Amino acid sequence: KTLKDLGDLKGKRVLVRADFNVPLDGTTITDDGRIKAALPTIEQLRKDGAKVILMAHLGRPKGKVVPELSLAPVAKRLSELLGCDVVLAEDTYGPDAQAKVAAMQDGDVVLLENVRFNPEETSKDEAERAAYAKKIAALGDVFVSDGFGVVHRAQGSNYDVAADLTAAAGLLVEKEVSALSRATENPERPFTVVLGGSKVSDKLGVIENLLDKADRLVIGGGMVFTFLKAKGYEVGTSLLEEDQIDKVKGYIETSAKNGVELVLPVDIVVNKGFPAGDTPIDPKVVPADQMPSGEMGLDIGPESCKLFHDKIVDSKTVVWNGPMGVFEVPQFAAGTRAVAQALVDATAEGAFTIVGGGDSASAVRNLGFPEDGFSHISTGGGASLEFLEGKELPGLKVLD
Ligand code: 3PG
Repeated sequence: KTLKDLGDLKGKRVLVRADFNVPLDGTTITDDGRIKAALPTIEQLRKDGAKVILMAHLGRPKGKVVPELSLAPVAKRLSELLGCDVVLAEDTYGPDAQAKVAAMQDGDVVLLENVRFNPEETSKDEAERAAYAKKIAALGDVFVSDGFGVVHRAQGSNYDVAADLTAAAGLLVEKEVSALSRATENPERPFTVVLGGSKVSDKLGVIENLLDKADRLVIGGGMVFTFLKAKGYEVGTSLLEEDQIDKVKGYIETSAKNGVELVLPVDIVVNKGFPAGDTPIDPKVVPADQMPSGEMGLDIGPESCKLFHDKIVDSKTVVWNGPMGVFEVPQFAAGTRAVAQALVDATAEGAFTIVGGGDSASAVRNLGFPEDGFSHISTGGGASLEFLEGKELPGLKVLD
C-alpha cells in the first residue's frame, strides 16, 4: 500500500516513521540528506490537510534519555526546510506528546522525541514492544512508513505499530524500493557493482547475492586488502580480515567461473600509519602487488582511479556502496572522488546509477557532488545493503 491507498486524509492524524538518524557535531547536523529525503511525504500530507506526527530515532541511546541525542536539531532543520513551525514533543507517547498532538490543526507538524529513549522500542520481547506500539498508535489514525533506513529493523515504531493502524509506504520508501529493485531484478547490462568500505565481512551477503547477477565487481576501500592478500600479495599494516581470506579466495574462483569480471586496484596510496594523532601524512603511490611491509594502504592509486572510471562508465547499471579510501582526509580522498565522478559521468551517458547509502552517500555530499548527478542516492545504510543481499526486510514485509 502507498499514500494513494489511504484515501482522504483531511483532518486525519498521520503517524509517519522517518529516518532522521543524521550525523551530528554537537548540535550541528553535518549531513541533512536524510531530512531532505523525507520532505516529499511530509509536504504531500500537509497538502492533503493531514496532521503530520513524525517519529524517528537518533543514535543508539539504549532506552535511556540522552540529551545529546534529542531530536531538537532535527526539528529546527525541518522547520527551516518546510518553512513552517515543527513542534518537538518532550516525549514519544507521554503527556507532552498527547497534549501537543491534541492541539494540532490540519497541516501542522509535530515531531515526537527520540523513540529509542524508550527501552521498549528496541526490546527483544515482542509482547512488550507490541504494548508500547499500541500507545504510539493511539496518537494517530493511520501509519505511514517512510524511514527506509530502518526497514531492516523490527522495532516498535516502524514494525509493530503497523499492526495497530492502517499502514502504507511513504513516497521515500516507494522510491527506494523501486530504484534498488531496478538493479537487483533484471538490470540493464553491463551491470557493475562497486564495493568499498573497511570490512569485507560487512559485504559478504551482497557479494554472495550479486556474484551471479552482476557482470563486473569492482573492489576498493579497506576491504580490498583481504582480496589482495588472498591473491598472495603483501599488504603491509593495512586493514586485513585474516578469517575471511579463504572465503574471498572462493569468491575469486566463483567470479571467474560465473564470468563475472573482478576488478581490483593496480596501485595503492600508502602511508606510515593511519593519519591520526602524531602519525605524519606522507602519502606514496605503490603498485598493488608490491606494497611495502611497514606501510598502510589508505586509498586506491591514480592508475586504479582511471581503471575504475573506465569500467564504471562502460556500464548501463551501477550500484556503489562504500568509500574507496579514508576520504575524510583530503590526501586519501581521490579514489572515492574518482568513483563518484565516474558514476556522474555514467549517469550523463544514460546509465542508471545508485549510491547505496551510509558512508558513500555522505561522502558524495561532503565532497560536493550534486545530488542530481546520480540516478538515486539511497538513504539506507544497513537497509540498502540488506536489500541488495536479497533479504526479506521486516519493515517492508509488514506493509504487505
Ligand atoms: C542507519 O543509520 O543506518 C539507520 O538509521 C539505522 O540505524 P541503526 O543501525 O542504529 O538501527
